[in-house]
Amino acid sequence: MNASSLIKPMLLHTYTMIDRGEGVFLYDEDGKQYLDASSGAITANIGHGVDEIKQAILKQLDKVAFVYRSQFTNEPAEQLANKIDEMTSQGLKYSFFVNSGSEATETALKIAVQYWQEMGEPRKTRIISRWMSYHGITLGALSMSGHPARRDRFVSLLESFPSISPPYCYRCPFNKSYPSCNLMCAEELQSMIRKIGKENIAAFICEPVIGAAGGAIPSPEGYLQRIKQICEQNDILFISDEVMTGIGRTGAMLACEHGDIEPDIVALGKGMSGGYTPIAATLVSEKVMEPIRKGSGSIMSGHTFSANPLSCATAFAVISYIEKNNIVQHVEQKGIMLQMELAKLQKKFSFIGDVRGKGLLLGLEFVQNRMTKQPFDRDLELCNTIIQMAHNNGLLLYPAQAGIDGMIGDALLIAPPLTITFSEIHELIGRLDKTMQACNEYLHEKGVLGGLE
Ligand SMILES: Cc1ncc(COP(=O)(O)O)c(C=O)c1O
Repeated sequence: MNASSLIKPMLLHTYTMIDRGEGVFLYDEDGKQYLDASSGAITANIGHGVDEIKQAILKQLDKVAFVYRSQFTNEPAEQLANKIDEMTSQGLKYSFFVNSGSEATETALKIAVQYWQEMGEPRKTRIISRWMSYHGITLGALSMSGHPARRDRFVSLLESFPSISPPYCYRCPFNKSYPSCNLMCAEELQSMIRKIGKENIAAFICEPVIGAAGGAIPSPEGYLQRIKQICEQNDILFISDEVMTGIGRTGAMLACEHGDIEPDIVALGKGMSGGYTPIAATLVSEKVMEPIRKGSGSIMSGHTFSANPLSCATAFAVISYIEKNNIVQHVEQKGIMLQMELAKLQKKFSFIGDVRGKGLLLGLEFVQNRMTKQPFDRDLELCNTIIQMAHNNGLLLYPAQAGIDGMIGDALLIAPPLTITFSEIHELIGRLDKTMQACNEYLHEKGVLGGLE
């Protein structure tokens, strides 16, 4: 009988107990070392066990751990909001602090709806999102998410938000190739708006690089610009979900900066605190704040722990650490090197169909046949099998959905802490190579592969 009272993700699975973390490595209670190639859930962006963060937490604990946001403001929350304003060049002046990425996207939804109410357009309530997207597990966030596995049990409770196709060039939903496709996937937004009526639509939300729902699918050049243009032409707010991509993950503070896009609202989470505390944020532009300030004067949302001083001091220390050590400036170069090494593995192992991503948010998609891009049979549970093999080899990877409609395919995210060194990247690749070798043997044993390329 299992003596644990803790509800873990898989109730029948035995989980390894982690004892401590240091840099890109975690150590279990038996002393086994794991290279954290996924930063946990793409979260531990500055690595584990950074002493400066510990000191900042202790310093704040000596002052005050909690005050309630409707009674007081506090220095760490003010500092954090100012720091985020300073570090994001996208005119996103205001921060609303919450506790998770799901709350950040759901707050974004609520702010978008409230904005139009304050503008005298209360009918504008619908949110358009994309299939193959993940915006969170709470019901509002899940309603916006095109992630079949996570929606399945709750579909009857979800709002049926309209969704358009993702810019999934490896398996183009329109059977076209970039750039001759003329970004049909972006144009689909225009036709969706026509069908629903812009007078009913509050916002469009997307991830600039699709994470868990697609295996690091980047936006093709010109895509985000066209999306933003369509939003502007139709009076629809543009929400960028940067919970996974934000705070440097793709080589810019916000992934939207790559396309020089100014979102109206941004959701942040994960790397914003590097995992040192649960905190997330909804960033709001002046354009959106102004009518709310002049109207009701209050954003109708909030949580008990919103803007609590301990979490804010922690996130402030993490973001200051990123800034002080010029961490974002090195992400592009590290990402290019890692992607080149992954491309070498792709040449070696025929079942790696695609290598993609941006900065240090990279993905591998696996296929049974590289020519036809046929995915593996679901019964093989390839993704989980590879993750277990990697675990045995002291390497941590993150599962992702892939395949047509994000339903029948296997992908993995490779997203180490942004602080990873070049020699640690070699170590990561060494452990991944060994894992792919084991996977190759497994697939041969199962008789589903022709041979090594
Ligand atoms: C893009 C994106 N948005 C939102 C979320 C939800 O964040 P959380 O799990 O912190 O609620 C996630 C989590 O993976 C995510 O990747």
